[in-house]
Amino acid sequence: MLITIDGPSGVGKGTVARIIAEKLNIKYLDSGAMYRALALYADLNNIKEDDTEKLKKLLIDIHIQFIKNEDGEDKVLLNTDDVTDEIRTNEISKLASKYASIEIVRGILREMQKRMIRNKDYVAEGRDMGTYVFPEANFKFYLDADPYIRAERRALQLKEMLGIKFNIEKILNEINERDNLDKTRELCPLHPAEDAIIIDTSNLNVNEVVDEIYKKVK
Ligand code: DC
Repeated sequence: MLITIDGPSGVGKGTVARIIAEKLNIKYLDSGAMYRALALYADLNNIKEDDTEKLKKLLIDIHIQFIKNEDGEDKVLLNTDDVTDEIRTNEISKLASKYASIEIVRGILREMQKRMIRNKDYVAEGRDMGTYVFPEANFKFYLDADPYIRAERRALQLKEMLGIKFNIEKILNEINERDNLDKTRELCPLHPAEDAIIIDTSNLNVNEVVDEIYKKVK
């Protein structure tokens, strides 16, 4: 069983994919976390997007793992470091989008993703899971929502996480910027697969989205 969930940033794919995986008792792949970990590593090592030689070497050295710690929490390991929180900053969001447009980066990450999932049951979440990486998936979903609503959700999430009130217009600008990068890049641009079920989540809560996906898959 392979289910893909794609869509733009801030649409709630991660939350939904995680719940679906739990309900079906199968694994969950957060492909965006891989792009984020790679961006963090490249940034720490001062490797620019256009430095192909250094990037090639980095891609050989890099080892990304998803594990559960003793408390059952999901953690992202970059080589042996826990980078779970570090990869969620705004800075890394922007950088990840940039590195994600580079051919060798996508090539290597795609191979890693295929290796992780091979012969196992998975919910894979990202931008190109149903279109380019796993076109053979049993079920493909594409979640979308109005950018302003995505910005509002993100602001609420940040307020809950950090207790700080963020400017929605600023978040909206960032969302539009990332949408633009993800949708207009030459390689594997974000778009729904031809056979994807498209769900507009603008007026749905998490449970309603989960129900819709779960009913179809069941
Ligand atoms: O889903 P996310 O926000 O964690 O993803 C971070 C960036 O990684 C996103 O802006 C684009 C890129 N990405 C991608 O190009 N392909 C994927 N399958 C997942 C993420």
